[in-house]
Amino acid sequence: MGCQASQPIYPMGVDPRLMTYGSNNSKTVDSKSFKIPLTEREVFNITKSWKAISKNMTNTGVNMFLKMFETNEDMKIMFEQFRTVDNVADLWTSRALENHAVLVMNALDDAITNMDDEQYVVEMLLTTGKSHRRFENFNANIFWNIEEPFLISIKETLGNRMNSNLEQVYAKAIRFVLIILVTGFEQKEVKSVSGMSTPSNMSSAFSR
Ligand code: HEM
Repeated sequence: MGCQASQPIYPMGVDPRLMTYGSNNSKTVDSKSFKIPLTEREVFNITKSWKAISKNMTNTGVNMFLKMFETNEDMKIMFEQFRTVDNVADLWTSRALENHAVLVMNALDDAITNMDDEQYVVEMLLTTGKSHRRFENFNANIFWNIEEPFLISIKETLGNRMNSNLEQVYAKAIRFVLIILVTGFEQKEVKSVSGMSTPSNMSSAFSR
């Protein structure tokens, strides 16, 4: 299991939030450079609590996106199907938002329920991050807009099952997820540990 809390979770010790995006997207990132920042106990706790989220994926996901639009209404522009909806509250009933929220929650579910398989999680997230390159006006920083809404919506779904320790575990987990999404979006090539690399022009598993 790859749970070493003290290891850097981003390559070369550089937090991508401190990088200048777009200035160096030719680097090749080795998927082995990322370390899951959770102890075995933390992986156990997050996986256990996530079961309640798994049963409420749609609500949690829609809630998360609505919270993001409340604070960042300009993010709606990213979504073809609901960029013309004026009132954020009207999006509660939007089938398009629901579908998208479920896609995102499924990816998060995949990451959290596989936190004991570092290589799988990292490569899946690098690919997902990269898949966002095809969206007009998207840039890597946009991923960070979901951090706070994620934590709030998880807290709301878990209710009294949440505690301050678990909150910190979720905070570390989403930060790890976002750092890898950002890296996947930014890089041209992913060198996987299996020796296969993914050229930037290769259509990803998510390509439409
Ligand atoms: C935890 C963060 C996120 C994850 C795991 C995630 C994951 C995904 C996945 C799995 C898809 C569907 C597959 C694909 O089209 O590539 C998707 C689509 C998309 N994502 Fe994200 N995403 C995240 C954050 C965001 C954010 C913050 C935005 C913009 C504000 C965004 C914008 C989009 C758009 C515009 C699509 C296409 C939707 C469509 O075609 O209807 N994503 N995302």
